[in-house]
Amino acid sequence: MTRLLRHFQSSVGSKVLLALSGLGLVGYVIFHMLGNLQVFEGSRALNSYAAFLRDMPIVLWTARIGLLGIAVIHVALAIHLSLQNRRARPRAYAIHRYRYASIASRTMAASGLVVLLFIVFHLLHLTAGIVGPSPPDRIDADGYRDVYGLLIHAFQNPVIVLIYVAGQVGLAFHLHHAVSSSLQTLGFEHAALNGLLKAAGPSVALLVVLGNVAIILAVFLRIVR
Ligand code: HEM
Repeated sequence: MTRLLRHFQSSVGSKVLLALSGLGLVGYVIFHMLGNLQVFEGSRALNSYAAFLRDMPIVLWTARIGLLGIAVIHVALAIHLSLQNRRARPRAYAIHRYRYASIASRTMAASGLVVLLFIVFHLLHLTAGIVGPSPPDRIDADGYRDVYGLLIHAFQNPVIVLIYVAGQVGLAFHLHHAVSSSLQTLGFEHAALNGLLKAAGPSVALLVVLGNVAIILAVFLRIVR
């Protein structure tokens, strides 16, 4: 146990844990997007899906607490590792050489911060209903909580649309680098697979962001109402 703890306190162990927690969060983001895409099937589909998730309080709260724990570990390790990197390089480079680093990899801290701020806003807005033009918490004709109505109310507001789209841009940048880099940290490297592994980050980023932005814009443009 202490050996395991010491391993995770080391820089390599922290990177592995950062990668694992990050991939866990990516799994949630994909699952969440697929669930939310049911907005295109109408209110009955989305509201009964949301009710299905909430109807299992033990599963729901275990997932929520697990997700929060993973997110806290992820952010704490990211801060710890970047401070460690900075300490290992006490003097700023006179000339920054970024020849091989993509914009996404150079802006991980900034994009991570945008995602974190987005999640805080999103929870206060849609889950708690305490910021933003408060969407009404209604019940639909079948007696389910009207999550569909919440989304329609939320994304008809241009300010909310801007905030959500900005969050998705931050998410796209973060996932673009994070997914491929995490797989590499976990040792997924093979000459035959390198192209695929490199494409994993941009593909996941594109998939998640297109799915989420499609929901936001479909409501804003009154395609879904
Ligand atoms: C257009 C994009 C998104 C839409 C339409 C959306 C929609 C929603 C809705 C309706 C809820 C409340 C569900 C309920 O109360 O039953 C929710 C909760 C949540 N969302 Fe999102 N979301 C989006 C993007 C994201 C992203 C990108 C993340 C993470 C990076 C995220 C993380 C969460 C979390 C952690 C919760 C709380 C879940 C819970 O209450 O158990 N969402 N979202």
